[in-house]
Amino acid sequence: MKIIMLGAPGAGKGTQAKMIAEKYHVPHISTGDIFRANIKEGTALGVEAKTYMDQGLLVPDELTVKILLDRVAKPDCAEGYVLDGFPRTIPQAQVLDEALEKLGEHIDFCIDVEVPDEHIVKRMSGRRACLKCGATYHVEHVPPKKEDQCDICGSQLVLREDDRPETVENRLKVYHEQTQPLIEFYQKKGVLKTVDGTAEVQDVFAAIAKILG
Ligand code: AP5
Ligand code: MG
Repeated sequence: MKIIMLGAPGAGKGTQAKMIAEKYHVPHISTGDIFRANIKEGTALGVEAKTYMDQGLLVPDELTVKILLDRVAKPDCAEGYVLDGFPRTIPQAQVLDEALEKLGEHIDFCIDVEVPDEHIVKRMSGRRACLKCGATYHVEHVPPKKEDQCDICGSQLVLREDDRPETVENRLKVYHEQTQPLIEFYQKKGVLKTVDGTAEVQDVFAAIAKILG
């Protein structure tokens, strides 16, 4: 099963993608997590990606597409995957489409997690992220068991650099300009499903599980 998670920054794509990955036994692939892991390790890719991410801008398509195509070619993706944060532009979606077509494959579901902009800034300031394993928490809605410590790997949780309110506003602008057109792109393909992302985490997941079956 090949699934794409669409939605504004902070809509809950990562939170839901993790739950989907567990229930349906497919890898969770987040381009944002891949970039953050590279930034942490200080790789050349990380250094380049950081200059865009810190401003709330998209990392250029050439760089992002290559990383994604390399990742989905790995053996653990043979039975499918859940993509979180990719594609983010029409050209990225087209490259993915062409790559899948060559393999005789296609995207089964594109799930749009809908959350209005006014909810987003509030959510971001409360988010805490684990840069080691990619887990995401929220100080009020999804608190870790021990303060500032990841439940899964025990690492120190941090406020992401790009979660400052002024950067969040920029990310929202970029989302509306470059990513939102993908809703129509996948609607035309007949694979788009929409869920209300303002509901409780478990209720959003129940709606998604109903769609995926
Ligand atoms: P990325 O890491 O993908 O960030 P994003 O899209 O901005 O999304 P977020 O991770 O911020 O939010 P999310 O939807 O995953 O929400 P979450 O589940 O954490 O990308 C970062 C940057 O990398 C980009 O800006 C860009 O520069 C670059 N990049 C990445 N991919 C790229 C690409 N393909 N092309 C070019 N550049 C790329 O939830 C948010 C918070 O809300 C959490 O605290 C969570 O606990 C809480 N929460 C979740 N669900 C609920 C709920 N239902 N109710 C209450 N709280 C909730
Ligand atoms: Mg995320």
